[in-house]
Amino acid sequence: MTVTIVGAQLGDEGKGGVVDLYGDTADVVARYQGGDNAGHTVVHDGEKYKLSLVPSGAVRGKVGVLGNGCVINPRTLFDEIETLQKKGLDPDVRVAERAHVILPFHRVLDGIEEDVKSEDDQEVGTTGRGIGPTYEDKAGRRGVRIGDLLDPEVLRDRLEYVVPQKRALIEEVYGADVSDLDDPDAFDVDALFEEYREIGERLAEQNMTVNASAFLTDAMADGETVMFEGAQGTIIDIDHGNYPYVTSSNPTAGGAAVGTGLSPNVIADGEIIGIVKGYLTRVGSGPLPTELGGVEGDTPGYDKQGDGENEELATYIREEGGEYGTVTGRPRRVGWLDMPMLRHSARVNGFTGLTINHIDVLAGLDEVKIGHSYELDGEELLAMPPTTEEWGRCEATFKTFDGWDDVDWAAVAEEGYDAIPENARTYLEYISDELDAPIYAVGVGPGREETVVVETPTTAE
Ligand code: IMP
Repeated sequence: MTVTIVGAQLGDEGKGGVVDLYGDTADVVARYQGGDNAGHTVVHDGEKYKLSLVPSGAVRGKVGVLGNGCVINPRTLFDEIETLQKKGLDPDVRVAERAHVILPFHRVLDGIEEDVKSEDDQEVGTTGRGIGPTYEDKAGRRGVRIGDLLDPEVLRDRLEYVVPQKRALIEEVYGADVSDLDDPDAFDVDALFEEYREIGERLAEQNMTVNASAFLTDAMADGETVMFEGAQGTIIDIDHGNYPYVTSSNPTAGGAAVGTGLSPNVIADGEIIGIVKGYLTRVGSGPLPTELGGVEGDTPGYDKQGDGENEELATYIREEGGEYGTVTGRPRRVGWLDMPMLRHSARVNGFTGLTINHIDVLAGLDEVKIGHSYELDGEELLAMPPTTEEWGRCEATFKTFDGWDDVDWAAVAEEGYDAIPENARTYLEYISDELDAPIYAVGVGPGREETVVVETPTTAE
């Protein structure tokens, strides 16, 4: 049996900690989409690890696999591996030969397209890691895959085709001068060839490349257990999120099959755990019907939908929850929990269990709200609508819960679920009932031990 971890909201739900917690029973932790746009913070033995590409399980000595659905920036990959090695860890990371490579020009293009869009308030607020442009090239059948780095002839052919196109795009469409860029080599075939050929050699020497489908199938046949670590979240899924304010991959549960080369039966035979943050945050643009307070300039095209008078509360939650981007350091927009969003998410993913995080952050508030439904054109909606424009016009109807006190959360984690303050349990049980999924764990602090574990899904049969 496998366990798939999926962000139920807009990313940053605390997935890394959950993978870390449940990963104990897994031998292999595989990522199936995204790249170094993800930010996973894992706290272990008082040490904080910030990872953006290497699967969080690496902190605990699991084999980490970056599946074919991922986009890999090899510079980041080796930087993170070296950082972990310096801290005394010995991460074993395998990369799918079918995964696509983020090349330096992808980052440049990401930045330039965002700049151009921002002139009309249309920027997505990407992490600037070149994610979108790399997936564009994958879909456009002009990408460079990890397997191509291992064969210099193929690599050169691929670069000779794609690089002049990108140079023309930058110069002729965007009117930029390549020689003015921070990294002019980003558009130089020979320089790219030399750097990425060497990376290919390094990957081969360290035996890091795999056929993910075969590797994972063989591992399971040998009795090893596998966990799938989703990055980002359902509402920034390219298909099921609020397009165009999305990332370019599929964080949803279906992505775990496509992005690793395993059958959907394998994923469905296991657990699919939705990670929910007890409130809502968002980095980047797009609507947010339960928004409490935004970050100036961060919601292009949309007026804040929530009650703007709640700026102070938003600031309080942001500070208490340390709601700043792991990758970019950007302050996150903050809102109340949004049930129509979560109902959509539960339907798309088929959660078999939930982990609800950051309940401690809300402690001490007199009352806590949840957007129970939306009103759109005089109608009540229980799930978010498919178009972003409609979603932007939704007004949340709130349900109010009595607040709960700040308590010794470490002691609560030790004692178990019933030690959670009663009002917080009422809040949690409402979420579980509405989503028709049991609570597997409740996060009451950043450390792995600050989690109330109700159920441990096992990757063992
Ligand atoms: P990209 O993935 O860098 O292309 O960014 C696209 C959108 O996804 C932007 O709104 C980002 O802020 C958002 N995003 C990407 N990665 C994460 C993440 O790990 N957590 C939260 N939001 C993310």
